[in-house]
Amino acid sequence: MTDDPEEGMLSWDESVFRDEHVFEIDHVPETFRHRSSQMESLKYALRPAVRGSRPLNVIVRGPPGTGKTTAIQKLYGELRAETDVRVARVNCQVDSTRYAVFSRLFEEVFEYEPPTSGVSFKKLFGQITEKLVEEDEVLTVALDDVNYLFYESEASDTLYSLLRAHEAHSGAKIGVVVVSSDLDLDVIESLDGRVQSVFRPEEVYFPKYDEPEIADILDERVKRGFHDGVIDPPTLDRVAELTAEQGGDLRVGIDLLRRAGLNAEMRASKEVEREDVEDAFEQSKHVHLSRHLKGLSESERALLEVLAEHDGELAGDIYEAFQAETDLGYTRYSEIINKLDQLGLIEATYTSVDGRGRSRELSLAYEADAITDRL
Ligand SMILES: Nc1ncnc2c1ncn2[C@@H]1O[C@H](COP(=O)(O)OP(=O)(O)OP(=O)(O)O)[C@@H](O)[C@H]1O
Ligand SMILES: [Mg+2]
Repeated sequence: MTDDPEEGMLSWDESVFRDEHVFEIDHVPETFRHRSSQMESLKYALRPAVRGSRPLNVIVRGPPGTGKTTAIQKLYGELRAETDVRVARVNCQVDSTRYAVFSRLFEEVFEYEPPTSGVSFKKLFGQITEKLVEEDEVLTVALDDVNYLFYESEASDTLYSLLRAHEAHSGAKIGVVVVSSDLDLDVIESLDGRVQSVFRPEEVYFPKYDEPEIADILDERVKRGFHDGVIDPPTLDRVAELTAEQGGDLRVGIDLLRRAGLNAEMRASKEVEREDVEDAFEQSKHVHLSRHLKGLSESERALLEVLAEHDGELAGDIYEAFQAETDLGYTRYSEIINKLDQLGLIEATYTSVDGRGRSRELSLAYEADAITDRL
């Protein structure tokens, strides 16, 4: 051994990362452990599509970060590579209206974008189903994060159109997988009666991973993402423990590994220490918050900013400040409150106010700084 002070230190052209991409938020992992029963159920439901029949509809539920999107990506990847089934995964956080959903489907079926204006929904819908019939193709649609369609009151219309496609155009075969991570939302109960009567999906549940499962999955990620010996088992166990504490959302663990790696590099160290993990946690524990904020519209963000200044006040009083910022009417204001409440970003609680009956008190569900820093 030498007493070289540089021993154990990174040089400029070295990194703790073997492959940093595996820690990115939209990376689809090569191995997908602890989800074989869910994958089997999904395959069972989709199998008829491979034979040219309409697949079973499915509802996938489970808390955030439990592998629901990954399961769909894996299955759809296989279907795309090995069969003639058309697959389309729609991210409803981005495409949150019926029109936007069908524009995405159009793109999938025609392999080019629909005209940006002047096409009625009816026409768009007709073109999609006609093409499916013409080509004798089965389309399986995953409405990922379907809860966002509910927040915009677009869920019933969207599902109705999808589920009745074969009636509108005989021979059109479309199956639907709806994915929800909002456990407070009763998807079926929240749909109109006319949709409920045609929607009897198979249910597939993705439970939280327990701590040993989290450690196992993260260990796999570490092997691919870091060089050998960068993180020792007790430190990795600490990452798994913190992830389990944050509701078991695997995104927290993956983000922690990446940030802890960057922290180690900042110290020019070849090894991730426990301290690097603890420091990273302050940021990583909010991955959830960041994800929700990313999908918000300008006026929704505006309300959060106003609330940061008026935390805990009554909705009626806060409205003035909100209107000054956005010029929006009270109805739209109420809708935004409801959406942010359902997303768990704010808490809206009814209280009785002297002379004014019942009114809602609005408060932020996170520290104001954590929110404004990320907006
Ligand atoms: N079994 C697993 N093996 C490897 N990686 C996994 C596994 N389950 C989840 N992940 C990883 O965890 C992260 C979150 O998974 P995913 O996006 O599939 O969760 P989700 O259930 O769709 O969450 P949300 O409800 O918030 O959308 C992804 O980066 C994914 O790669
Ligand atoms: Mg998801």
